[in-house]
Amino acid sequence: MSSSILIVDDDPDVVEILSESLKARGYRTEGAYDGNDALEKYDEFKPDLVILDALLPGRDGFAVCDEIRLRDLYNDVPVIMISSDSVPESIMKGLKAGAQDYIKKPFSLKEILAKIESSLSQANRKRDLREKNLILEDELQRGHADYIRVNKELKKKIYDMRSLFELTQDLNRLRDSEELVRVFSLTVIAQLGVDSVAIFYIFDNSDDVLSYMGGSGVSDNVLRSVTLSKNNALSRELLARGDILDLKENDINDAAKREADFISRFGFDYCYPLIIKSRLLGVVFVGKKLNEQGYSSNDLELFKWICTAAATGLENSRLYSELQETYLSTIKVLVSTIEAKDAYTRGHTDRVAEYATLIAKEMGLSKRDIETVSFGAALHDIGKLGVYEDILNKPGELDEAEWEVVKNHPVVGANIIKNMKFLEAATDLVRHHHERLDGSGYPDGLKGDEISLGARIVAVADSFDAMTSNRPYREGYSLEEAIEQLKLQSHKFDINVVEYLEKLVKSGRIKR
Ligand SMILES: [Fe+2]
Ligand SMILES: [Fe+2]
Repeated sequence: MSSSILIVDDDPDVVEILSESLKARGYRTEGAYDGNDALEKYDEFKPDLVILDALLPGRDGFAVCDEIRLRDLYNDVPVIMISSDSVPESIMKGLKAGAQDYIKKPFSLKEILAKIESSLSQANRKRDLREKNLILEDELQRGHADYIRVNKELKKKIYDMRSLFELTQDLNRLRDSEELVRVFSLTVIAQLGVDSVAIFYIFDNSDDVLSYMGGSGVSDNVLRSVTLSKNNALSRELLARGDILDLKENDINDAAKREADFISRFGFDYCYPLIIKSRLLGVVFVGKKLNEQGYSSNDLELFKWICTAAATGLENSRLYSELQETYLSTIKVLVSTIEAKDAYTRGHTDRVAEYATLIAKEMGLSKRDIETVSFGAALHDIGKLGVYEDILNKPGELDEAEWEVVKNHPVVGANIIKNMKFLEAATDLVRHHHERLDGSGYPDGLKGDEISLGARIVAVADSFDAMTSNRPYREGYSLEEAIEQLKLQSHKFDINVVEYLEKLVKSGRIKR
């Protein structure tokens, strides 16, 4: 569209001449004849340029120019002032008021046209620049929004990684392999969004087959009947590649392919070998993705990561139970040493351990608590290692000093085992197996709830065995009589525990 020009002069002839010649050159024009008229027309016409006479009736050109600058914030509309007055002060005044140029009357048309063109093109360039600037600013704003979005995604990723890391840490920490497999399966299902997962594992190092250990979204009964030989083609392929295998992959030998086909019939798409120290210990199979897109490379990486954590966890749990067995056999040796010293109590420790463990199971304690009770009971008299043989075997009454030595055996016992990490929980049971509910026990004189349930169970099992054992000076009670004795002493023994013991005796699970 052509540029529009507002011509302001109190001489109508000037306005007319200028207007005609500008129109002839394609400009649109509007005329105004005094200051107020000029501002009204300016507002209506919104010109691209103003030619403004300095001397106007009423508001003069300088004041009009000031007003225009107030309306035209970006200084987009050039003002060319014309005046018969050419003294430098007037020129300065006009430029100060915001005029772009100044022309002296009388002016040549050529001169004024040249100034109009250059002012307009300057104004256009300025406007262009400003618009480009705005676009840039806008892009910058959007860029910032992008930056915020990316940052947010990154934060979420870091958060995901962190929770995954914590989860894998948990997998490493879990000592109970059943619990580990349960957590592992749920993690795979949730993190990958798949319908099934199954883990096959070599339970015993000497075994040649991997057996089904657990999973989710699969039929336990069906998979329990499936075994994978450590030496079959698929296992060898997995051990060799040490990486994920697409069960539909063709790039494997025929024998491995047949085995892969067989296992994929259970609905599995991929598998991953669990390898520790170059040995294949297990294989994890995963089923179909629940979304339509199938597995992404991210999914496969994640799958490998969770599997690796599980492999470490499983190996730790195996080492842990091997270590426990070693400890337990050491303990058994220690215990037989005690019993060798105390001729009258041969077999006592084994029986107390058996009774206490049965009671703990019957009461429905957790696996871990049952284990603690079992260790605590097996070790309850280990402190007798520190009691002189002649005191232990003394046929008559003990004197006060001797009695003090004997009474100290729970403390000595607790001190012996307290630094063995896996016996930490059992320490309390060893120290407190002679405490009684009414506070009459030793070494700490604990009362009621101050005595842990584990210690109360060992106390009942220990006293029950003492009551039912024959001594040189007396015949032991029958099992039923011993239960009655314990019930009569409900101020000392936990009646609830005694009742569970009674159940075990009545059902024949504890017998002579
Ligand atoms: Fe004892
Ligand atoms: Fe004992």
